[in-house]
Amino acid sequence: MAYSKKVVDRFEDVLNNPAAHGVGRFDPNDPNIATGMTGAPACGDVMKLDLKVDPDTDVILDVKFKTYGCGSAIASSSLFVDMLKGRTIEEARQIKDKDIAEILDLPPIKLHCSVLAEEAITKAIEDWDIKHK
Ligand code: FES
Repeated sequence: MAYSKKVVDRFEDVLNNPAAHGVGRFDPNDPNIATGMTGAPACGDVMKLDLKVDPDTDVILDVKFKTYGCGSAIASSSLFVDMLKGRTIEEARQIKDKDIAEILDLPPIKLHCSVLAEEAITKAIEDWDIKHK
């Protein structure tokens, strides 16, 4: 199994400059932060996603992640940072694992890495719904 160039490029970019690609976390006590954390039973990898949301407009202002996992999981995480910034929570709900897998050219054996990313987004949105509805 070979990673696509897109996965390798993203993975290396994140390793070379983690802060520029959203690696980290926000203050968990900030009421405008929504968090989604999920793990893949198949491989033991874990992804945690923080969204900073404008409570008046539901626009995602900034995104951070911490991912313990394979190259595809790291690449999927950096991709969802790009995909989520500037979108509303409702728009974020429409992002599916297939979108991530397609953009990154993930091979079939690595599709669960993009599923993990979709789950992290879903859980962060659930957290936002609980905090703000
Ligand atoms: Fe576990 Fe990629 S192998 S998330």
